[in-house]
Amino acid sequence: MLNLIHPSDLSVTHGLDSARIGTRPLVQRRLADLRGCFADVPAYEAALARDNPLIYAVTAVEPAAGDGQLHYGLGVLYPGRVGDEYHLTKGHHHAHRPAAEVYVGLAGAGAMLLEDEATGESRLVPLARNTVVYVPGHTAHRTINTGAEPLVYLGIYPANAGHDYAVVGQRNFRQVVVDRGGLPTLVERAVLSLRP
Ligand SMILES: [Fe+2]
Repeated sequence: MLNLIHPSDLSVTHGLDSARIGTRPLVQRRLADLRGCFADVPAYEAALARDNPLIYAVTAVEPAAGDGQLHYGLGVLYPGRVGDEYHLTKGHHHAHRPAAEVYVGLAGAGAMLLEDEATGESRLVPLARNTVVYVPGHTAHRTINTGAEPLVYLGIYPANAGHDYAVVGQRNFRQVVVDRGGLPTLVERAVLSLRP
């Protein structure tokens, strides 16, 4: 097996500022790409009218496919807010729902919003430097930067996990994370959306 892995996939080096790993494709998501993610639509439209900043970038490393293999992604989520909501990733399910994932925080401070697909139960758990988060299968997951520095992390997942963004795009997460007096606080999306 070892001889089937490209040497450049056996060990990589990366920085903490861009998510770039060598010449691998870098996926970049700007504010305009996150339409529908933020509950406060007027705040989103106002922010987008001013600028279309880079919100996050991800590079995936996929050394091999098949049973037992692992893939991983390096993510950099830049700090900021839209209204009271912190910068966030689109979030996703795994196409193969039982697939779990481990997130390893490398720099910055933030959180992961986890939502059980069957029950809708939500948990906000810390993701920061020196923090490891376990994302169970059947759980939608979104990363949120609640700090002032880029939040840098690795997500390590089974090679057969796949990504399903469609369900989150249609239903969205039930809860959003807002700044309340400087503290990240979970609020029902419906409540924030209906705010006059
Ligand atoms: Fe994932």
